[in-house]
Amino acid sequence: MSEGNRRFLLAERPTGPVDDKTFNLVTEEIPTIADGEALVRVKWISIDPTNRMWIGPEPTYLPPVGIGEEMRALGLGEVVESKSDDYPVGAIVTGLTGWQDYMITSAAMPLMTVPAGIPVEPQTLLGTLGMTGCTAYFGMLEIGDPQEGETVVISAAAGAVGSVAGQLAKQRGARVVGIAGGPEKCAWLKDELGFDEAVDYKADDWRAQLKAATPNGIDVDFENVGGEIMEAVFSRLNMNARVALCGLISGYNDTEPAPGPRTFGNLLVQRVKLQGFIILDYYARFPEALEALGGMVAAGTLRTEETVVEGFEQLPTALNMLFAGENTGKLVVHIED
Ligand SMILES: NC(=O)c1ccc[n+]([C@@H]2O[C@H](COP(=O)([O-])OP(=O)(O)OC[C@H]3O[C@@H](n4cnc5c(N)ncnc54)[C@H](OP(=O)(O)O)[C@@H]3O)[C@@H](O)[C@H]2O)c1
Repeated sequence: MSEGNRRFLLAERPTGPVDDKTFNLVTEEIPTIADGEALVRVKWISIDPTNRMWIGPEPTYLPPVGIGEEMRALGLGEVVESKSDDYPVGAIVTGLTGWQDYMITSAAMPLMTVPAGIPVEPQTLLGTLGMTGCTAYFGMLEIGDPQEGETVVISAAAGAVGSVAGQLAKQRGARVVGIAGGPEKCAWLKDELGFDEAVDYKADDWRAQLKAATPNGIDVDFENVGGEIMEAVFSRLNMNARVALCGLISGYNDTEPAPGPRTFGNLLVQRVKLQGFIILDYYARFPEALEALGGMVAAGTLRTEETVVEGFEQLPTALNMLFAGENTGKLVVHIED
């Protein structure tokens, strides 16, 4: 065990990207467990765009992290001491661990125990075979519901959710177009993941690229970004198109809400169905999604990709990486083996 329990506590609310004033890094004693509790050594932490929303001033689907409170985050760890029948020593668990080395389990916020012997890397359990994969699964297959031959567009396509969502749409027989930043990510989408087309939104001619990539319009928008990209996609939506509104990352560091999309009227004209969703609402159905996704990973029909950052102290830096597009696939921080 390490000497103490490092924890990042929220010091002040950022007004843009997080910086060195946003968190206080403290080292406390490793907590001791009472009857019914277990001590978890956190080993991997999931970096999610929603982490930034949780430290903003307004409640979202969860209350904001309070000033002085530990940063909320999903993670994966191992039970190292236990006085609980639910969490035997050695069990691998995932859930809300926070940005800390050690956590004590609580009945109010149970952790999920990973079945022993799953033949995947632990970090994949925070990505494709975790909350991220479930978001892609339900958002694409149930809300987007692409049909064979339809055109599906995914923004932030080379990221954690987008890269899985696109592959699932391909399996349905759709024509899949990803939007991502830079030629490398675009090449990765086409050459490695089998997307039909990729649009580099950092190129000057990205609107022309989007038009050329969607000659028959767009039937499903898996929306991760918002802002100008969403506006351009909305302008190309077909009759009875579906929008799975998953995220609006382009605005998460802003203090003012983005202006409404000027192309919103096309949703009316084209009878578009737009549904926002929060993956927590599907929690009871995670086993179904994880079984399906796990089968695809095992069969080699679903590629998983992670960007791993080493070291607990890197957590705030890692959060900013999401907004600079410095990850491909799932971004995770590795704390300890
Ligand atoms: N509804 C839910 O329950 C739920 C659950 C999980 C995630 N989400 C949402 O899904 C989206 C993707 O999340 P993720 O975890 O998979 O993250 P991610 O896609 O792995 O990482 C974020 C990516 O967004 C792109 N990006 C960042 N700022 C951008 C901007 N201003 N314009 C365009 N692209 C930008 C970057 O890629 P580029 O290099 O391509 O710019 C970056 O790699 C987020 O909006 C997130 O909030 C929603």
